[in-house]
Amino acid sequence: MSGADVSAVDGIGLPWPSSAVRDDAGALSVAGVSATALAAEHGTPAYVLDEGEFRTRARAFVTAFEAAFAQVGTGVDVYYAGKALLTVAVARWAREEGLRVDTASGGELAVALAAGVPGAQIGLHGNNKSDAELAAALDAQVGRIVVDSLGEVERVADLAAVRGVVAPVMVRVTTGVHAGGHEFIATAHEDQKFGLSVHAGPGGGDAPAMRALLRILERPSLHLLGIHSHIGSQILDADGFAQAADAVLRLRADLVARTGVLVDEVDLGGGYGIAYLPGDEQLDPAPVAHRLAAAVARVCTDLGTALPRISIEPGRAIVGPAGITLYTVGTVKPVSVTADDGSTFTRLYVSIDGGMSDNIRPALYGAAYHAELAGRTSSAPPVLARVVGKHCESGDIVVDQVMLPADVAPGDLLAVAATGAYGRSMASNYNLLPRPPVVAVHGGASRVLVRRETVDDLLGLDLG
Ligand SMILES: Cc1ncc(COP(=O)(O)O)c(C=O)c1O
Repeated sequence: MSGADVSAVDGIGLPWPSSAVRDDAGALSVAGVSATALAAEHGTPAYVLDEGEFRTRARAFVTAFEAAFAQVGTGVDVYYAGKALLTVAVARWAREEGLRVDTASGGELAVALAAGVPGAQIGLHGNNKSDAELAAALDAQVGRIVVDSLGEVERVADLAAVRGVVAPVMVRVTTGVHAGGHEFIATAHEDQKFGLSVHAGPGGGDAPAMRALLRILERPSLHLLGIHSHIGSQILDADGFAQAADAVLRLRADLVARTGVLVDEVDLGGGYGIAYLPGDEQLDPAPVAHRLAAAVARVCTDLGTALPRISIEPGRAIVGPAGITLYTVGTVKPVSVTADDGSTFTRLYVSIDGGMSDNIRPALYGAAYHAELAGRTSSAPPVLARVVGKHCESGDIVVDQVMLPADVAPGDLLAVAATGAYGRSMASNYNLLPRPPVVAVHGGASRVLVRRETVDDLLGLDLG
């Protein structure tokens, strides 16, 4: 596909990818490919992923964190959190930019391996990994299995012992630090399913995290690599990370005091925030890396422990802003609404050809997104609109409120910004909608990374 003429046009800014511009015809274009051409070639809905934006963001994390932690005298591994979006090409891009890959299921592990990521550069997470998933990870000689429960410690140890191998494990801990957005994406508070608490329960005794660490040291088929903490998502400053690092480093020091074992690694997880709406801030990795490196160094000095090697696991901050979703408008319906104060106003319901099956986040977390006409600009006055999907749920909302030109009409292309993370990866076939393709754009050309599902694909799964 040839590129649009985007010369002499300024980027349109966040939350769009930095290559996004309006071309001479007014169409949105990303990495030199116009939305109109993308829709004509690949259809809608389609996830469009700017390869350059992904790579730049991935590299920015590696550069920032390596520089900051080198200054305090230790190294960093950046794992791309594949749960945000994992395809074979995406895993390759991550690897080519110097990242490792964090997986959270046997499926994600298989994709990372299919991309040629060496097992040693893959981590496996999950609060309820199956034996098959653990066995696949051991067979692939993954660099780390992050254990999430006391029972899992025994299961990994047994599976490794049967194979005659020593499994490298980390313990996922909860620190009580609550950071980030919606309750469902904040993961280090205590009353949820992930990790083991660093705090002892009301009955006293060792905290669950300490019990797991001690038990791992007792099992010869396990190598205790370190401690892992992930505090949430969509976090915009370093405070929560620094607090969690403090708790994890103290646990590490307690373990030395108890056993003489100083674990080598500390993983501070992902959760770095992005801009979803115009005017939103996004997290800049460099200052956060410097604050975090300083905090880690200070705590280790206070505790008299050597610095651990650090790892982080950004997902959304790498792939989120690199993606947009293209839709076609099908129905436009003005609805008269009575507000709480009795006044009435009109909301324009704009129905698109996808919905909660390709982006569940608004329905799941109340996540806010921004949409614009993608095939043209308009001088019609802006009106209050709600972009809704085609599913049989009134909560099937993709953009709760956005100003769109009053002349938005069936057949218009609509783009939703910052959908690269947790869009395709959380997609479903609700109402038996085939899932949209993932199309990469780069240097004026497009390429399908994951093809569009068809009704035949769905029928092929149904054995009648
Ligand atoms: C353990 C772990 N690491 C990394 C991530 C990635 O988070 P984000 O995409 O917000 O950076 C998650 C997200 O849920 C996670 O649970």
